[in-house]
Amino acid sequence: MTNLNATTIKQIVQGMPASDGAGVKLKRVIGQPMLKNLDPFLMLDEFGSEDAQDYIAGFPKHPHRGFQTVTYMLNGKMGHKDSIGNEGIIEDGGLQWMNAGKGIIHEEMPMQIEGKMRGFQLWVNLPSTEKMSAPGYQDIPTANIPELRSEKGSTIRVLAGDYKGQKGAVTTQSVKPQFLDFHLVANESLNVATQNTHNGFLYVYEGEIEVAGKVLSKGQLGVLNFANHLVLESKACARAIFVSGEPINEPVVQYGPFVMNSQEEINQALRDFQQGVLA
Ligand code: FE2
Repeated sequence: MTNLNATTIKQIVQGMPASDGAGVKLKRVIGQPMLKNLDPFLMLDEFGSEDAQDYIAGFPKHPHRGFQTVTYMLNGKMGHKDSIGNEGIIEDGGLQWMNAGKGIIHEEMPMQIEGKMRGFQLWVNLPSTEKMSAPGYQDIPTANIPELRSEKGSTIRVLAGDYKGQKGAVTTQSVKPQFLDFHLVANESLNVATQNTHNGFLYVYEGEIEVAGKVLSKGQLGVLNFANHLVLESKACARAIFVSGEPINEPVVQYGPFVMNSQEEINQALRDFQQGVLA
């Protein structure tokens, strides 16, 4: 069932196997040839393995400038330490929202040597006016993430933005991101209000979900064509993250962990890093 107010899927993208950090195996969904970016989102990685060899090397010390990194852990324990003095562990269902701003150096290392580690890392771009903002970090344990329940028993976790009036765990972000995690029961039909000025996606990580006549299966991202509401329908249990935000519409010049508006700003970031004044 479709109508003019319905958010629809305009492209279906499959993640690509990749390796990052010191050799962590992951699936890159945004930031690969099929979907280079989705303004304001620069990257989406899904990591998930029960084999410690796939994640144990972690992400040793590295810099960032010009955007935000969001780590959402479904299972496992990941330690975090950074140049502004934060230290913590993100675990099972927890969220870390880091503003790299003008510069941060951090490391993300597994705090487990066996068992399942699964989650997502999303990169959210910053507008030029905020690329050199003060770095910051929000560590939100799973218990502080609001959860709503549908009549049929599906769960909606509100990580950022809002859902049916419930404010998310993270609210004060420049591109006004909405980040929801849906755990749908069988035969569900959920109507989610969406902002028609946003860009974003639905990424299914368990089961299958139908949106306006198109089915997304596990491991598929649907790039959305935004209208006023998104209808999610399931025949069996399914899980997906929904992420949207205001497009920035500025040039994106990326060199690894630095994302700026011009090559000169990238050169400056490299000089600052080499001279030890980035963070
Ligand atoms: Fe990082």
